[in-house]
Amino acid sequence: MPKVFVTRKIPDTGLKILKKKYEVEVFSDSTNPTKEEFINGAKDADAIVSLLSDPIDREIIESCKNLKVIANYAVGYDNIDLDAAKENNISVTNTPDVLTQATADLTWTLLLSAVRRIIESDKFVRDLKYKGWGPELLLGQRTYGKTLGIIGFGRIGKSVAKRAKGFNMNVLYNKRTPLDKAEEEKLNATYAELDELIKSSDFITINASLNESTYHLIDKSELKNMKETAVIINTGRGPIINEKELANALKNKEIFAAGLDVYEEEPEIYHKLLELDNVVLTPHTGSATTYSRYKMSEMVVEDVIAVLEGRKPNNKVI
Ligand code: GLV
Ligand code: GLV
Repeated sequence: MPKVFVTRKIPDTGLKILKKKYEVEVFSDSTNPTKEEFINGAKDADAIVSLLSDPIDREIIESCKNLKVIANYAVGYDNIDLDAAKENNISVTNTPDVLTQATADLTWTLLLSAVRRIIESDKFVRDLKYKGWGPELLLGQRTYGKTLGIIGFGRIGKSVAKRAKGFNMNVLYNKRTPLDKAEEEKLNATYAELDELIKSSDFITINASLNESTYHLIDKSELKNMKETAVIINTGRGPIINEKELANALKNKEIFAAGLDVYEEEPEIYHKLLELDNVVLTPHTGSATTYSRYKMSEMVVEDVIAVLEGRKPNNKVI
């Protein structure tokens, strides 16, 4: 019976199907395997179901002699050495689409929370400091009619743009290949070079994936070029922003606020960020709705089954 190594318990929607068909080893309910534990569990596996927090490098891939597929329980797959997988004829699959709306929602949740100072406000109330309505108490910024700059304009970025319509925003976007005019018009979005987007946007959201061209895309000089009232949101991948420089910019009030769902060294968070009031922090929960996470479980399982049965998986990365 083929073996599937699942690095961490995923929802039963998919897992129960997997368990009926294969020998399934679920590493743990609550922690990811270390590299040694990973190799130990996966070395005789035909398939791996992995999380975005499992780095899967060449050494791991080459230790798994029976491996045919790595089904990553995420849309992003920067945790996997694709070259090594390809050279070893291993398919890699992901879980797009079912988390698009959830992640666009969280992007907006962080944006509005940062703009309207929700974390400070909540703390203020819990600390029993609310002693009466104040004309100048906790003033935030206006969102209506402002310019939103979206970096990374795939499924999630476009869904963020669609939500901006209700706020009557001017939308700029940046991605490697600009859209055609018809699609730009439909989304009411205008292409901008990165430096132009950074200078002109009131609010900036990162909805890009991590690769060599997006690593530290937002660094000291980009932060310097932002408006003093700028708010930056990241629901893509942590290393796209230089976290230390961001913390400095927030501390020195060079920008107004930030909202982060992802970090450079997850689950570590740069300690200075934790001390700031003008940043909203969530624990990489962009896709954390029951809908998305249950669907993702079905999707990884369908693709494992497809590959092991010699069919093409629905969500093939390579
Ligand atoms: C989450 O970050 C994902 O890539 O699914
Ligand atoms: C679907 O795309 C969702 O995230 O709800």
